[in-house]
Amino acid sequence: MSGRIPENILEDILSRTDIVEVISSYLPLKKAGRNFKTNCPFHHEKTASFVVSPEKQIYHCFGCSESGNVFKFLMRHERMEFPEAVEMLAKRLGVIIPETQKHSKEPSSSTLIYSKINDLAVSFYESNLAQTPAAIEYLHRRQIKPQTIKEFRLGYAASGWDGLINFLRLKLIGLDLIEKSGLALAKERGGYYDRFRNRIIFPVFDVRSRALGFGARVMDQSLPKYVNSPETPIYTKGRNLYGLNLSKDYIRQSDSAVIVEGYLDFIIPYQEGVKNIVASCGTALALEQIRLLKRYTHNVVMIYDGDAAGELATLRNLDILIEEGMNVKIVSLPVGFDPDLLVRKFGVAKLKSLIAQASNLFDYKFGILKTRHGIIDANAKSLIAAEMLSTINKFQNAIIRSEYIRHLSEGLKVQESYLLEELKKIKPLDKHFSLNLQEKKKKLAINPAEKLLIKFMLEEKNVIERIRLELAPTDFQDERTSKIVALIYDLITQGKTVSPNILMNYFDEDAAAELLCESAFMPDLNLQERDKAVSDCIQRLKRDRLKSKRQNLHTQIKNAQAAGDQQALDNLVKQFQDSIEKG
Ligand code: UTP
Ligand code: MN
Repeated sequence: MSGRIPENILEDILSRTDIVEVISSYLPLKKAGRNFKTNCPFHHEKTASFVVSPEKQIYHCFGCSESGNVFKFLMRHERMEFPEAVEMLAKRLGVIIPETQKHSKEPSSSTLIYSKINDLAVSFYESNLAQTPAAIEYLHRRQIKPQTIKEFRLGYAASGWDGLINFLRLKLIGLDLIEKSGLALAKERGGYYDRFRNRIIFPVFDVRSRALGFGARVMDQSLPKYVNSPETPIYTKGRNLYGLNLSKDYIRQSDSAVIVEGYLDFIIPYQEGVKNIVASCGTALALEQIRLLKRYTHNVVMIYDGDAAGELATLRNLDILIEEGMNVKIVSLPVGFDPDLLVRKFGVAKLKSLIAQASNLFDYKFGILKTRHGIIDANAKSLIAAEMLSTINKFQNAIIRSEYIRHLSEGLKVQESYLLEELKKIKPLDKHFSLNLQEKKKKLAINPAEKLLIKFMLEEKNVIERIRLELAPTDFQDERTSKIVALIYDLITQGKTVSPNILMNYFDEDAAAELLCESAFMPDLNLQERDKAVSDCIQRLKRDRLKSKRQNLHTQIKNAQAAGDQQALDNLVKQFQDSIEKG
């Protein structure tokens, strides 16, 4: 993870940054003993299990295991790349990171290049808009206020073929980069032309307000209505949510998000006061978009045009929200309306009241199915049950599942036991459930003696020396603990500091940070207790080592017997006896 930025710079930044100060600029931290606590921003919870340690300079959530140092916090919370997180903290401190290390060929530097090009394009389109009365007039007709135009940085692409290209060329941007950024297209006979022409420009920003791409709308009835940026090195459809850069704080504060489809469906309600809103921009909600949103809230209200919502396929699409543990509600607008038109025609209060009365996905879907099937005979019941059970099956929580089964049983007048029988036939939940918390916890189940030893090593240098005399890294059975121990021994040999927040810079995997933090946050012992615990754990691991050695020999002996290899057998049996004498 840190290969490019020198370790000593990272350590310098870590030693001069206070994780409590950084995190408290995002979350309300409350003092709790030696630590600080708050509700975890990475999973939904009612009681605070997110702990920040000023001494250890790490955070750990006892609920979802998310853990790390201040770099990791920024990466997760602000969706930064590692070098960006480092850079941000470096800037605060006035630390200078050598250019060569900062901008090599790594992806984040391309992020910088492309978002810089896009930024230039945003300003170019903005100034074009200011000079194009027809375009301003169009936005005015759509009741977009001047202040809103500024806030969303709306623009205009003129009708020429190379206005933007020429502008970017003057800024010394190469044609290949302009093409790769999706702003220009290659002509068949050579040369390039602007992708967006004679259209209103809606820049698409990421959460950190970096321009990723563009949507561009015609000002009349011609088709296609929108032209969008293609996928580029920095723009992947289905990864981003339009407007989240503006609405994320409102979403966090209100702990809910309204999801709409189009640019205008975002802009107009937002302008009129529905601030906790995002737009999926034409695509069905993708997993990445949901995960992104989940950082801010677990409660969503989907707003659909009347006709779209009736589509079962659309609703099935929403099951993915349930799988991700979101609470989903649905508003279906009158046919012919979208949020933009609704607000313009009936005012924002109407939209707000529809949002307040949104029905949950289950009731909503059940309602649609019932209407669709008209007479509810046995056949219809089984079809409806199948459709509903597949949604119910997506809930991770057994209590919620049973609650919906009860609802469904009442609604269909079918005994619960039959529904449960049908539910069992549905395939068990699929793969991406492996990410759920219990699985995650299981994955982390490591011999507590190994974790304790790591904890002690993180606390006291002398303990490291003592353990090193007795145990090799390979004596730690878990691959992760073993790697961490090897690193600790290494650093100690080089006379370096061993602390969890620094150690985790050496690992790419989240699991290493989790393990380090989990160990570090194990209950503290006084000196005497610790001394005894260190001996106990060492003994424990030595015993385990011996046991696994014997098991190993045992297997080899069996193999040698089967192969009739007497010489090998004698040798192995001798080793086995030795191991018993030692134990
Ligand atoms: P809509 O057709 O509902 O458009 O598409 P809209 O946003 O309401 O626009 P107005 O009100 O007619 O101006 C919803 C979204 O689908 C995507 C856009 O993101 C749009 O905002 N879309 C639509 C496209 O990408 N291309 C299209 O040709 C049409
Ligand atoms: Mn519209």
